[in-house]
Amino acid sequence: MKLLQLTDLHVSSVPDHSLLDTRDRLERCIRSIRSYHADADLCIITGDLADDGSAQSYGLLKEMLSELAVPVRLTIGNHDIRRNFQESFPDNPRDENGFTQFVIDMGDTRIIVLDTLAEGKIYGWLCDKRMRWLDRELGNAGGRDVYIFMHHPAFPIGLRHHQKIGLVQSQEFIRVCTRHGNVRRIFAGHVHAETNVRSGNLYMSICRGVSQHLLFDQLNANATYIAHAPAYNVILADEHGEAIHFYDLMHESGVVGTSMLPPELEWTGELA
Ligand SMILES: [Fe+2]
Ligand SMILES: [Fe+2]
Repeated sequence: MKLLQLTDLHVSSVPDHSLLDTRDRLERCIRSIRSYHADADLCIITGDLADDGSAQSYGLLKEMLSELAVPVRLTIGNHDIRRNFQESFPDNPRDENGFTQFVIDMGDTRIIVLDTLAEGKIYGWLCDKRMRWLDRELGNAGGRDVYIFMHHPAFPIGLRHHQKIGLVQSQEFIRVCTRHGNVRRIFAGHVHAETNVRSGNLYMSICRGVSQHLLFDQLNANATYIAHAPAYNVILADEHGEAIHFYDLMHESGVVGTSMLPPELEWTGELA
């Protein structure tokens, strides 16, 4: 199974809304996916889809994603406005309470996508309804391993700037996931930096994302962002586990050399 994770697109219909041309950066990622990863089974975009949450920005995003050539599902982040998003993407699934969270079963794997948006707040929120829904969907996974995709990091990541803007209910989240014991990995966004974290038996990978990048500065209360190459994650999974490839568009800067393996060291086609 091959999954793609894109995050933090921050697309805006207003051309000079930020210093970055987020539209151009997403277009480059879409071109890259069409060229190299059109065989992916699914692309999941984990929130901060539109920088201003406006219907106009979602309209633009929808138009752009029609070129992706891979099935795509989305969830929302703190920059999004749930109602505008859902009106613009009526076919994107939601739960019985109207939240943008849903389940996709693919063979022996269950993908759970969560909605951690608290409207108007930067931090992530899973209210009782959403947490109960998660508890239920972990409980009826029927022996499948589970990947969880969500915008906000599920637990602390050791950065001062992010200490209070992750998921507020992280302890409850950890309790629920640990009780079921079937969560293989959590994929998040929001940080704008490539970060891997473990809490107990829970593993979380945060994707750097398409728009601006956080400069690593552990104890700084404020965040500094830089504009390096846009990036997304390519997740190769089988019954043994998963390999997560951080795929940025550095190659657009030019290739300076190649290395060829002798025939006896060539790939056998197995991940392990
Ligand atoms: Fe973001
Ligand atoms: Fe965010």
